[in-house]
Amino acid sequence: MIQFFITGTSSGIGYQLAMQALEDGHKVVGISRRHVINHPNYRHLTYNLNNYDEYKLINFNINKEAEKLVLVNNAGWLGDVKPAGQVSPASIERAYQINLIAPSILCKLFIEQTEKLEAEKVIVNISSGAASYPVSGWSTYCASKAGINLFTQVLREDYPNIHSFAIAPGIVDTDMQGEIRRLDTEDFPDKQRFVDYKDKGELSSPIDVASKLLKVIKHPETAPDCVFSLRDT
Ligand SMILES: NC(=O)c1ccc[n+]([C@@H]2O[C@H](COP(=O)([O-])OP(=O)(O)OC[C@H]3O[C@@H](n4cnc5c(N)ncnc54)[C@H](OP(=O)(O)O)[C@@H]3O)[C@@H](O)[C@H]2O)c1
Repeated sequence: MIQFFITGTSSGIGYQLAMQALEDGHKVVGISRRHVINHPNYRHLTYNLNNYDEYKLINFNINKEAEKLVLVNNAGWLGDVKPAGQVSPASIERAYQINLIAPSILCKLFIEQTEKLEAEKVIVNISSGAASYPVSGWSTYCASKAGINLFTQVLREDYPNIHSFAIAPGIVDTDMQGEIRRLDTEDFPDKQRFVDYKDKGELSSPIDVASKLLKVIKHPETAPDCVFSLRDT
């Protein structure tokens, strides 16, 4: 049995990943503000990852029977989409909290609470293609995802025994993409590109993305690299 700890299980990729893990008979602890999954093997922790005081005392309550322990930092937030000089300090802080600071702290707590256990360990930080190239209006999102990529590479150096990955899921048909298509073109000049992806049926489904993530988690030795995109697999 694998024990999963997944953030952002109330929608999109995180929801599908949790559901597929549960269908496979594994145990899942999910973290998000909304609690939408009810299953005998699912436990929900209602935390706002923008607020360190809410999750700092998290106890992963590791199941000693688990042969594999998996942390998936999936929760993410695009932040205010505007030219960098117009983004509010509150949005900048919140985006870094959710996309970079909370995942870094959850990795630290997961490592601390599992280091004496024999079980195999996997950490997956959900990144983005936007970590590798500039997207106008997405300064904090791009920077926070670039940060999580390098953070994950350092994890590999610090803990070679943990399978650590930063994985870009591709362009996926979730609430986040809906939010992007509703943006004002003045704030986000690239909006039409994302409208076209949807119109041309080019978005990946969260179900397919979750099943590819599950494959990497089950067989980490098959992953192409520490940092990679599911589009290349
Ligand atoms: N969709 C794409 O095309 C795409 C592309 C590249 C990367 N990604 C990345 O994939 C990951 C999942 O995104 P998605 O597309 O599945 O988006 P989504 O459907 O909007 O889901 C986002 C999840 O993050 C959680 N979350 C957001 N803010 C939170 C907070 N303050 N505290 C706790 N949880 C919070 C949400 O839960 P609550 O609202 O219930 O708190 C929700 O479960 C993100 O890291 C995103 O950056 C997505």
